[in-house]
Amino acid sequence: MSDLLHTLEAKRVTLGVSGGIAAYKSLDLASKLVKAGCEVTVVMTENATKLISAKSFEAITSKSVLTSMWNTSREFKIPHIDVRNDTDVIVVAPATANIIGKFASGICDDLLSTTLCSCWAKPILIAPAMNTQMWTNPLLQRNIRLIKDLGVAITGPQQGSLACGEDGIGRMSEPETIVNDLCQLLAK
Ligand SMILES: Cc1cc2nc3c(=O)[nH]c(=O)nc-3n(C[C@H](O)[C@H](O)[C@H](O)COP(=O)(O)O)c2cc1C
Repeated sequence: MSDLLHTLEAKRVTLGVSGGIAAYKSLDLASKLVKAGCEVTVVMTENATKLISAKSFEAITSKSVLTSMWNTSREFKIPHIDVRNDTDVIVVAPATANIIGKFASGICDDLLSTTLCSCWAKPILIAPAMNTQMWTNPLLQRNIRLIKDLGVAITGPQQGSLACGEDGIGRMSEPETIVNDLCQLLAK
């Protein structure tokens, strides 16, 4: 684990989870962040909730998971603005081709994409995870360049065996790597 781990202590981390098969690995990521002393707020897309339960993240983070702009609470009256005001850094893991495309295009049609749009000036780390053909798609690569130009950091994807049974580039960075990259981003 990074010797910069102390940079995470008391940091308010927003963990965006979109609808990729690697979403289950983000439970381990959330757990590592909590152990490092972070306050973790999870924002899931509707599609992510079909792959993994919000309840699991709630058990790990001891906080309600946000999935909609319209389920407001005393803490989150206008969720995408309140999340921005309460966050030091945002990490999206896994980041689908869809959420990357929406971020790069300024599309805000759910809570995670709207939060990303409102957080663009904060430190952001994106962990793409998808099938190799999706990752090598020139449109996806253009979107990655666009968000990199905005100053967004990207971790992975890695080469290896993919959930679809293929072998190639597209695996989400391992949670430990994401934590290390987050430390590097915050240490800048
Ligand atoms: C079982 C399953 C696994 C999926 N895994 C991925 C993935 O790893 N990466 C990806 O970009 N899309 C994946 N998709 C497709 C996305 O879920 C789909 O594009 C969806 O619209 C993404 O929505 P979101 O970005 O709002 O979460 C998967 C779909 C299914 C049914």
